[in-house]
Amino acid sequence: MLARLILICFLATASLWAEVTYAREVSRILESRCASCHRPGDIGPMSLLTYDDAVAYSPDIERVVKDGIMPPWKPSDSHGVFKGAFALKPEEKADLLSWVAAGTPFGNEADLPEKREQPSGWLLGEPDLVVRMPQPYTPARGKDIYRCFVLPTGLDADQFVSAVDIDPGNRRIVHHVIVYLDSSGEAEKLDARDEEPGYDCYGGPGFDIGGSNIQSLLLNGYTLGGWAPGARADRLPQGIGMKLGKAARIVLQVHYYTGGRTGEDQTAVGLYFNQERVEKQLYYIPVVNTRLNIPAGNANYTVSAEFPVFPGLEMRVINAFPHMHMIGKRIELERQASGVRTRMMLIDQWDFNWQGAYTYVEPIRMPAFSQVNLRCTYDNSANNPRNPNNPLKNVRWGEGTEDEMCLAFLGVVFERF
Ligand code: HEC
Repeated sequence: MLARLILICFLATASLWAEVTYAREVSRILESRCASCHRPGDIGPMSLLTYDDAVAYSPDIERVVKDGIMPPWKPSDSHGVFKGAFALKPEEKADLLSWVAAGTPFGNEADLPEKREQPSGWLLGEPDLVVRMPQPYTPARGKDIYRCFVLPTGLDADQFVSAVDIDPGNRRIVHHVIVYLDSSGEAEKLDARDEEPGYDCYGGPGFDIGGSNIQSLLLNGYTLGGWAPGARADRLPQGIGMKLGKAARIVLQVHYYTGGRTGEDQTAVGLYFNQERVEKQLYYIPVVNTRLNIPAGNANYTVSAEFPVFPGLEMRVINAFPHMHMIGKRIELERQASGVRTRMMLIDQWDFNWQGAYTYVEPIRMPAFSQVNLRCTYDNSANNPRNPNNPLKNVRWGEGTEDEMCLAFLGVVFERF
């Protein structure tokens, strides 16, 4: 009798101990992994700050967490370690799922974390230069819109930029931003042809970013990186800067996700200049295959590209910025040195609407005779709901919605210059 009682007590305590509650685990996971977007006035379609929110959306939370859709951190854990990663840890994922399975128990009030303010504003302090869209823009309701805005910097001398941050004018609709540079004057021409502020742009900024004129791109610079909600601005390692020529225009490519709502936006970019002497310039080099031709109907077609490192061009890879369009499904970067292949990055559920630049915690050394391999896999079948081509067609390189790219920009510094 006593033995049985002890056993029952033991089982009861064990299950109490094992039960995941909102107050103890779930509130903390939602706050650290979800609330940066799922809070009032931000890009997530609903807020997930309270117990009632979490219960109301628990079936959706279960689905998106199980499928790995949320949080939208794309690179796979098994390939490369990146700064600011906001993926769920395996135990956090397990906790969320068992909490929903157990019927969303609240637990003990006393276990709730202290309320923390979600960070906002310029996280690195006041920028050295803030450049804002010249006029507000109101995107049409109900669809994904990619729009480019040309912003003169007003600089009278070349500068080196150590960090870039974005202040979205309207957090509810600004989904992500890529900061391009244009020294050719092309962007202004495109802008002039369109009466509204900015001009429509989709797979790129509408002027050459990866194709023909690599030398000029390298010399003048053509991007300062990207921003998506949840990502934190970070300075480049000491002594490294991105060149911003005084004549360059900043071209913000803004992806608006309006999903039924809209409003005015006037996004600003904050630039942090290097205060220390710049010893190394960060160059963005494209690893790219522009000769792709993806057969209509093929659900699993892979294209590859290599970037060989010649003697004298030994380099370190600081960050990587992969890019495909709608029918891309998998993109992978690999380092190959002395016959050994190592994983650099893998996104195996490519989503055009969640793009970003990812910075390595430890820069990757590329010695002479090594190379970077890029592989892009596409689903050009009718079964792919994202396929924009109906009827199906062979898909080639281009900037349009119906075209494709297989491209990764690597932010690198060269050891010798
Ligand atoms: C970086 C911003 C961001 C973070 C972080 C984020 N979300 Fe989302 N979430 C979004 C956006 C934006 C959408 C709207 C759909 C889309 O763009 O994919 C969304 C949609 C959703 C949906 C509805 C999806 C559907 O298919 O109906 C759920 C549920 C959700 N998020 C849960 C979560 C949970 C749980 C977390 C944390 C574990 C999280 N999200 C983290 C931005 C974010």
